Amino acid sequence: AFLMAVYFRGMDDDETLWLTQSMLHSGDVVDLSCIPGIKTDKHSTGGVGDKTTLIIGPIVAACGVPVAKMSGRGLGHTGGTIDKLEAIPGFRTNLTAQEFTENVRDIGLAVAGQTGNLAPADKKFYALRDVTGTIENVSLIAASIMSKKLACGTDAIVLDVKTGSGAFMKTVEQAKALAGKMVEIGRGAGKRVTALITEMDRPLGLAIGNALEVMEAIKVLKGQGPEDLKEVSIELAANMLMLGGKGDLEHCRKLALQAVSNGSAFNKFTQMILRQGGDPAVAEDPSRLPWAPVQAEWRAEKAGYIQSMQAEKLGAASLALGAGRKTKSDSIDPAAGIVLVKTTGDRVEAGEPLAVLHTSDKTRVDAAIEILRDSLLVSDEPAEQRPLILGFV
Ligand code: URA
Repeated sequence: AFLMAVYFRGMDDDETLWLTQSMLHSGDVVDLSCIPGIKTDKHSTGGVGDKTTLIIGPIVAACGVPVAKMSGRGLGHTGGTIDKLEAIPGFRTNLTAQEFTENVRDIGLAVAGQTGNLAPADKKFYALRDVTGTIENVSLIAASIMSKKLACGTDAIVLDVKTGSGAFMKTVEQAKALAGKMVEIGRGAGKRVTALITEMDRPLGLAIGNALEVMEAIKVLKGQGPEDLKEVSIELAANMLMLGGKGDLEHCRKLALQAVSNGSAFNKFTQMILRQGGDPAVAEDPSRLPWAPVQAEWRAEKAGYIQSMQAEKLGAASLALGAGRKTKSDSIDPAAGIVLVKTTGDRVEAGEPLAVLHTSDKTRVDAAIEILRDSLLVSDEPAEQRPLILGFV
């Protein structure tokens, strides 16, 4: 009855904050007070090809602002940071609360799965929302996300609210409404919070799938990699640095770029891998990551300009190749996924490769290509692209 009442009547900002705080205090709250400085966290509402945490965490930590990040696993067409990190041989994401805190204290960076019993009331609410058709309420979504973020105990949070076909929030207006609610909750709880609204009609970068995304993140940390991924990563990192007290946004953008160009972010990534039990040689030699035995090309049927390659469908095709899970208990193939050769806005000729599909099971290729075909719109006119950063709260 409560959920239905909220769904139909909405909640004001105070009510939303009170619900968040009740859920937050229903379980453990991580205590990071023993670590000096402004501890930062970042949260993405989920997208396709979104490997920004692997890039931003090391950049921000290399600039001297501690990053304490608890992440989730992928479900459906969206990936999860924990699955990506676990593609690195030996990498442990199941840190104890003590290990998590010690790593943040000692090297300024930890990325782990949820430790302890964080916001258990949210899990019960979420299950009830699922069966009562009340998931899609902006206050309930904001309270759910923020109760878990606040339980992680950081002082500052940068929210990346994705919008478009591959995102939970399909329109910019919906994304802004969610961002506004989450920022209000964070401020009401005494935290420093900003939110960026970012593009997710198209995937971020060219790689989709766990090991493939780690490889692409390493490229960006080495100063290479796709421009869109670089731009969004630097913008998010700069916001974290700003909240972490490193100066205005313009200055923080420069700091983030410097951390990449002088190699300190790359070194920090290697340090994190070592500290969490992974093979640090992966950073220098990504061929040590899992590599799928089957690679198949998807080729263009006609010439033209790519108007769209819908992110949601690309995520679904990657899932069909084995990179994701349909239900929580499914296992995943860390090597599976897609590397785009062409992306939205590009010109393509008939017969040219659009993407390379990676999988351990060649019987999955046809079904994935079927989904990919459906994702693609090619026409004679050059495509208009909207900016990657669509708003700021
Ligand atoms: N993610 C969450 O954690 N909660 C929601 O309600 C929706 C997305």
